[in-house]
Amino acid sequence: MPKRVGILTGGGDCPGLNAAIRAVVRRLLPENIETIGILKGWKGALEKETMPLGVDEVAGILPRGGTILRTSRTNPLKHDGGLEKTVKNLEGLGIEALVAIGGEDTLGVASKLFEAGVKVVGIPKTIDNDLSGTDMTFGFDTAVSIATEAIDRIHTTAESHDRVMVVEVMGRYTGWIAAYSGIAGGADAILIPEEPFSLEEVVRIVKKRHERGRDFSIVVVAEGAKFGDVAEKNMLVVQDARMDEFGHVKLGGIGNVLAREIEDQTGYETRVTVLGHIQRGGTPTAFDRVLATRFGVFAAGLVLDGKFGHMAALRGMQIADIPLKEATGQVKKLDKKIFEVAKVFFG
Ligand code: F6P
Repeated sequence: MPKRVGILTGGGDCPGLNAAIRAVVRRLLPENIETIGILKGWKGALEKETMPLGVDEVAGILPRGGTILRTSRTNPLKHDGGLEKTVKNLEGLGIEALVAIGGEDTLGVASKLFEAGVKVVGIPKTIDNDLSGTDMTFGFDTAVSIATEAIDRIHTTAESHDRVMVVEVMGRYTGWIAAYSGIAGGADAILIPEEPFSLEEVVRIVKKRHERGRDFSIVVVAEGAKFGDVAEKNMLVVQDARMDEFGHVKLGGIGNVLAREIEDQTGYETRVTVLGHIQRGGTPTAFDRVLATRFGVFAAGLVLDGKFGHMAALRGMQIADIPLKEATGQVKKLDKKIFEVAKVFFG
């Protein structure tokens, strides 16, 4: 049994991270296992930045958004000798096992560390819900609730002004947030990265709706949705094309491009709202608090059972353990059946 366990949170933050940290600490405490927080994801492992994590440090953090451990998109594999340095630093800190909380990027590094001999377990998180191997990640339910509330609010002003309102939500590779919030908010069209869309089709949908007497429309678009029918096919709209250490560009702006096209091609007054990081901030929903807590307790159990190289995952209503490798390599695309449901209400 390890005497000291490290925990870190990596990648974009999301509501529920603190609930998961608290759960790991509280489950390991009665086993007389000390937990130590590694700050700013893999950056803290490279730079040996840590904080103690006892009962006092995790008191009151359950409903708090963000992560008390901070986070970063640092990728040790992109630093000279970064993997070896991480292994050495963990040893130097007396960390005998590690709980890595993150999405595909963070868990990908965790998987590499496991291959290098580190005793690591994973906890899946991301508002995008695009991680393979688990039916759901915490953070997603909160993001959907926030986006749905925003769409509800946008609805009333859209109706007052007879406008088309474009709502841009997060979702780098997948349309989970767009589809769920769009269905919940009664969107008239939803555009997702999985299905490059044609402007012609969006214009047709909006016009059809207005022709049947509705004077306003709500179009939800995921930031990673792509135009399929313009000169540069499958073109992504980016804010900044420079890549981070995991090879991601900064997305954002497709809503503006789309709104302009809709207005030009229909003549209907159109506005855009970009929800951005509002979807990632603030207190988690009860669902996410419970899911994060279940994942945390389960991952601590994996440490106690010596099941390293594995992570907690939601399968149906149950928490299961799956190899870390299953979560990485490919994203979990939006379930086609969900999108079929959404399409019933288009136009
Ligand atoms: O990883 C989830 C996510 O919220 C994506 O949907 C989004 O593209 C990205 O993070 C934004 O990351 P950052 O906060 O680093 O700009």
